Amino acid sequence: MTPLQEEHRLRQAMTRAVRLASRGHGGAEPNPMVGCVLLDAELRTIADGYHAKCGGAHAEIEALRAAGARAQGSTAVVTLEPCNHHGRTGPCAEALINAGVRRVYFAVRDPSPLATGGAQRLRDAGIEVHQLRSTAAEELVLPFVKCMTQQLPWITVKWAASIDGRIALSSRDSKWISGERARHMVHRERGRVDAVMTGIGTILADDPRLNARGVALKRRAMRVIYDPLANTPPHAAVLERADEGKTVLLVLPQDVRDEATSARIRTLVAKGASLVDIGTRGEITPAMRTLFTMGVSTVLIEAGGGLVGKLFAEGLVDELFTFVGPLVIGDASAVSSVRGLRPDSMSDAVHARLIAVRRRDGDALLHYRFTSFASLGLQ
Ligand SMILES: NC(=O)c1ccc[n+]([C@@H]2O[C@H](COP(=O)([O-])OP(=O)(O)OC[C@H]3O[C@@H](n4cnc5c(N)ncnc54)[C@H](OP(=O)(O)O)[C@@H]3O)[C@@H](O)[C@H]2O)c1
Repeated sequence: MTPLQEEHRLRQAMTRAVRLASRGHGGAEPNPMVGCVLLDAELRTIADGYHAKCGGAHAEIEALRAAGARAQGSTAVVTLEPCNHHGRTGPCAEALINAGVRRVYFAVRDPSPLATGGAQRLRDAGIEVHQLRSTAAEELVLPFVKCMTQQLPWITVKWAASIDGRIALSSRDSKWISGERARHMVHRERGRVDAVMTGIGTILADDPRLNARGVALKRRAMRVIYDPLANTPPHAAVLERADEGKTVLLVLPQDVRDEATSARIRTLVAKGASLVDIGTRGEITPAMRTLFTMGVSTVLIEAGGGLVGKLFAEGLVDELFTFVGPLVIGDASAVSSVRGLRPDSMSDAVHARLIAVRRRDGDALLHYRFTSFASLGLQ
């Protein structure tokens, strides 16, 4: 095999490992999504695996189990540096050594201070170790890296907009801008995140339930409402069905609440709502930090331009999925997807990285990211 053919096969295996890893979304978090492919001497696939569930087997262990004795002398291609710590499942580096793996290619160095050192451990045991960088593998691990380095959840915004960028009519009617398939995708995502969050404007306009319907749940999301003055109606759908998930209101802290707000809060707490404080001037970051300490590592935002604008202003948005429905609204007073930002120049606008463009029946799905390794101060 020529070196070029060898590199091609290794890259193919890395692409497969990334694809496998992404199946772990919704199960693996707050752990990283990881995939592993084991190859024979001719670089043909022997077995593969991925990290499906937090607390469950890591990708390497899954692949080694599937390979059995065939792992002896194999090459492992892994999206993340094999871990070196005795967590819930034991170090993957040790498992690869014990299985007789000959070479390891990994895409991203493990940024976790706890798990790092796997590559060195493998080298010390005489295994050939290489970094095979992959943009897709870096994107895959970014939510984990953000959580770990910032102690904040990974925040994904979703909106459905008309071709001219409006998410509702001036009457606040927004049903429906995108098609059924797009809406099904949103429900699937609701079933994979720790929290689904909206703003009071959307609660008052649409009275959403914010739960996942018609899909298999990988986890049950907490419902979170940015509602500084506690204007959520006591009979709002998010409060009616406690079995559909916990409901948390993000409210002004006690020392800046007026009596009327405090009275509304008492009513909402009696209806089962929990409270998390925002900053005294309405800042959302302190509440996001609190949610993170409560175990929320992924948040899906389904809100209007008011909340989305505030999140952008605080630099909290990591990722955006926008469905562009095939219609033009053409009314300047219709609701915009983002409001409240006032960039003085184009360079001050919020710049994104286009990740993917897809077609979903009549809708276009645009996937952007704002957070990168560089923006997190890494590499
Ligand atoms: N197409 C989609 O994907 C989609 C998704 C979600 C929502 N929507 C639409 O977005 C619209 C709502 O957007 P939005 O920006 O107004 O709200 P929002 O972002 O959901 O909620 C936060 C905003 O609500 C506003 N608000 C409205 N009434 C309020 C009240 N009584 N007390 C406190 N704040 C209040 C505040 O605006 P100020 O900061 O300006 O005071 C605040 O920024 C609805 O028409 C909904 O249908 C569309």
